[in-house]
Amino acid sequence: MTGANRGIGYAIASQLAERDLHVITTARDAEQASKTAALLGARGLVSSGVCLDVTEPDTITAAVEHVLNEHGRIDVLVNNAGISDGNQRPSSIDMALISRVWQVNVLGAWQCAAAVIPAMRASGYGRIVNLSSTLGSLHHMNRPTEPAYRVSKAALNAVTRVLAAELIDSGILVNAASPGWVRTDLGGPNAPRSVDQGADTPVWLATLPDDGPTGGFFYEREPMEW
Ligand SMILES: NC(=O)c1ccc[n+]([C@@H]2O[C@H](COP(=O)([O-])OP(=O)(O)OC[C@H]3O[C@@H](n4cnc5c(N)ncnc54)[C@H](OP(=O)(O)O)[C@@H]3O)[C@@H](O)[C@H]2O)c1
Repeated sequence: MTGANRGIGYAIASQLAERDLHVITTARDAEQASKTAALLGARGLVSSGVCLDVTEPDTITAAVEHVLNEHGRIDVLVNNAGISDGNQRPSSIDMALISRVWQVNVLGAWQCAAAVIPAMRASGYGRIVNLSSTLGSLHHMNRPTEPAYRVSKAALNAVTRVLAAELIDSGILVNAASPGWVRTDLGGPNAPRSVDQGADTPVWLATLPDDGPTGGFFYEREPMEW
């Protein structure tokens, strides 16, 4: 999973490891990745740290190769890494900032999915979970704040749909999750939800049974408006 070193990502990694998955805690800083795995290890959970920056394609390729060499399979990908543009307005935001948000939230997640799908196809099993946001819902998009973030999450939802359509009947389920507004560095201290609450729906989607949904967008384990 990407961005496992803090926030909702660490909570998802913990909850998946508690369900006996061997979690690969990737982080863009190699030391952070190893420290995160060690933290889980100290709690008796099985985990390994691997360096992966979603904006550096070589690190994605290397991480996937490493995991396949060590473990022979990849069952789950959680695209958790994400950044926001914060207090911007759509008419005045710097295009370079939009591009940075797009690189991480859309292209990074898309590339990670493309990198693991061949191995998932080979085993006939896969769960891909994209950390989206209620802010990316077109239905709810009636405010101008965080414009690059909103647009990127709407695009990530579209990536979820096209991947799910391609992978129908392959055994690979692709879904998007809104964690709600969560107390993290990104969400800020006033958010009402804990990281464990935010992690619940992504973890549920990561461990769906074979007849589970695909191509959906979920909040609190229920479908939400696109
Ligand atoms: N918090 C909320 O209220 C909320 C609401 C809706 C959706 N979400 C989504 O949930 C996900 C996690 O959010 P969070 O609140 O836990 O954020 P966070 O605390 O700011 O953590 C973000 C994580 O993403 C990683 N990351 C950033 N750029 C990366 C890159 N280029 N490559 C790899 N990892 C990178 C960060 O790693 P570093 O430590 O190296 O920076 C960090 O691990 C995001 O996709 C976010 O959009 C959050």
